[in-house]
Amino acid sequence: MLLPGLAACGGAGSYSTPNPLATTLPAPDPDPLRADAAAVGKWIGAAIQSGYLNQQAYTRTLARHFDYVTAEYEMKWDPVERAPGVYTFAGADAIVAYAELNGMRVKGHALIWHEALPDWVRVLSPSDLQAAVENHIRTVVGRYRGRIAVWDVVNEAVADGGSGLRDTVFLQRLGDGYLELAFRVAHEADPAALLTYNDYGAEGLGAKSDQVYALVRRLKERGVPIGGVGLQMHVAAQNRPPSADIAANMRRLADLGLVVNISEMDVRIKDVAGDKNTRLKVQRREYQDIVALCVAEPACQAVTFWGFTDLYSWIDSLFGPDDPLLFDETYAAKPAFFGVQDALRRR
Ligand code: XIL
Repeated sequence: MLLPGLAACGGAGSYSTPNPLATTLPAPDPDPLRADAAAVGKWIGAAIQSGYLNQQAYTRTLARHFDYVTAEYEMKWDPVERAPGVYTFAGADAIVAYAELNGMRVKGHALIWHEALPDWVRVLSPSDLQAAVENHIRTVVGRYRGRIAVWDVVNEAVADGGSGLRDTVFLQRLGDGYLELAFRVAHEADPAALLTYNDYGAEGLGAKSDQVYALVRRLKERGVPIGGVGLQMHVAAQNRPPSADIAANMRRLADLGLVVNISEMDVRIKDVAGDKNTRLKVQRREYQDIVALCVAEPACQAVTFWGFTDLYSWIDSLFGPDDPLLFDETYAAKPAFFGVQDALRRR
């Protein structure tokens, strides 16, 4: 029996009339980004959370388009070692297992960072802190030896404004030697992993990126096993470093023999003038132009976005509601997605 509401638009001859629902069907899946990325020798990544891996819409899009994942949260010090020597690896294990099942590489993130740091670490004496740093890195990196391609060993150690190293508990107790210590211990724990320094606000040219450059050059000169630099690339569409500056910065880092990655990209559009369509178009252009810089730079190994669906982005809680990623809340590909596709296709 037809329901009354449906009978109104059905009836005899309805087979030949256009289906009124057809216009609301989702667009077909776009070509996998990972194939386009592989064709230009780049890895294409997203930050993920294990808690979403039981959602089919999430994993379907993730597995189709990405070949590289970063734990958005679950490999940070606090979730992994909340109490001294007591490790919790459920979330991190789930991410690594998922990646391996789906033919993806993993980036570990982040071993030494002043945030997501449990309180007990902040109150240790210098010698206890050094032991805690060594144990933490040995345990975490060692657990995934041979299975994690890249580790962010030190995250955000340079102060904003270019005044030198950030004033963290690590700097206060251990001096600037903590960076070298962290890289050396990580290298012993997994000699095959590429070890990176990761930061924000150092994508283009300027005081902070000069500090990052000087820091990693010093580490390289001292024979510290650093292999690359991550440029986070959390940017606002209307206010981001000029492309020429990003390219020049990538080049000078590459000249030190380092790999460069775009490691946490998202593009905020809430303050772009105009209507939603205009904002999405501007966002598409910014994504295309920035990803093209990685495509053009031989030392750029990967582009990782900080999430992939606007349904789940850290931006909303920090900067207010926005739409910073490649897929909308329903997992439909946004103009930004096609900007990335065009960049990977060198259009
Ligand atoms: C953010 C995550 O996205 C949030 O979910 C978490 O609560 C806090 O950290 N730079 C980094 C990332 O290196 O680890 C941060 O991720 C975003 C800024």
